[in-house]
Amino acid sequence: MAREGPIKAVVVVLLTALVCSSLVSGAVVLLRPIQLNNQLLDRSRNIMALTGLLPADRMVKDDEMLVLFKSLDARVVNVDTGQFTTELDPDTFDMRRAANDAELSTAVPASEDPAKLGRRSRYAPVYLVWDGQELDRLILPVRGAGMWSMLYGYIALQPDFTTIAGMTFYEQNETPGLGDQIAQPRWLSQWSGKQLLDDQGTPRFHVSEGKVEPGAVHAPFQVDGLTGATVTGNAVTNLVHYWFGPHGYQSLLQHLEAQPPRRGEDES
Ligand SMILES: Cc1cc2nc3c(=O)[nH]c(=O)nc-3n(C[C@H](O)[C@H](O)[C@H](O)COP(=O)(O)O)c2cc1C
Repeated sequence: MAREGPIKAVVVVLLTALVCSSLVSGAVVLLRPIQLNNQLLDRSRNIMALTGLLPADRMVKDDEMLVLFKSLDARVVNVDTGQFTTELDPDTFDMRRAANDAELSTAVPASEDPAKLGRRSRYAPVYLVWDGQELDRLILPVRGAGMWSMLYGYIALQPDFTTIAGMTFYEQNETPGLGDQIAQPRWLSQWSGKQLLDDQGTPRFHVSEGKVEPGAVHAPFQVDGLTGATVTGNAVTNLVHYWFGPHGYQSLLQHLEAQPPRRGEDES
């Protein structure tokens, strides 16, 4: 009996560990589809909020949101060439994972890396919103290092490819009350109508230091600064400058200006 005690205890511990790990693995497998669906739903809500297509008078239910999102014209662009490609599926292409894949990503030269990315995906899923046969908005994913965290967002442009139609940050981990003000709808609402590029196509948009002075020459390119969060505000400026500079979407925008996209045509 004296020797059985510890053996029994070990067996009980092992069995308990086995049962618990089976339960945890089972839960992970069972919950994975729900988690993926929630991620898709979250992405859909963020992107759809930039389309201008959501009814203003009511909340859209999850199922309806997914139907609306799936009806968007989603395409994958080769960021380096600015051309659309049909070789990758925009519904499943994972830009974050691609940024860590040697084949699917490219190093960002330090001199051209204000967003502190290190590497970025060579491809990006983008969303075209149509009004009949006319392009109404172009929605592009952006990201950049904030003070504490990577800031992930989408920016919507009007068909002139320089007027901002909307902006959202759907993931960031900046300090509550300070850097996380970038995700506040009231602050983000200022972006609509602001100009991204100057006449030469160089990014000029930036988060101001303090309030934007109405009528000032820079006002069309500025949104208000964030009180106590200049570091995160500057990071936002930097990520915009990266993504709309020569290493970002500049080729895509030049390509789209030279050859406006047509509805239903997704390969160039
Ligand atoms: C604990 C702590 C957390 C902070 N978090 C942020 C932040 O998330 N974003 C940010 O820009 N500044 C943050 N700051 C403040 C910065 O250090 C810096 O003071 C600020 O960005 C300067 O902005 P201001 O010029 O508007 O005061 C934090 C400071 C402390 C002490």
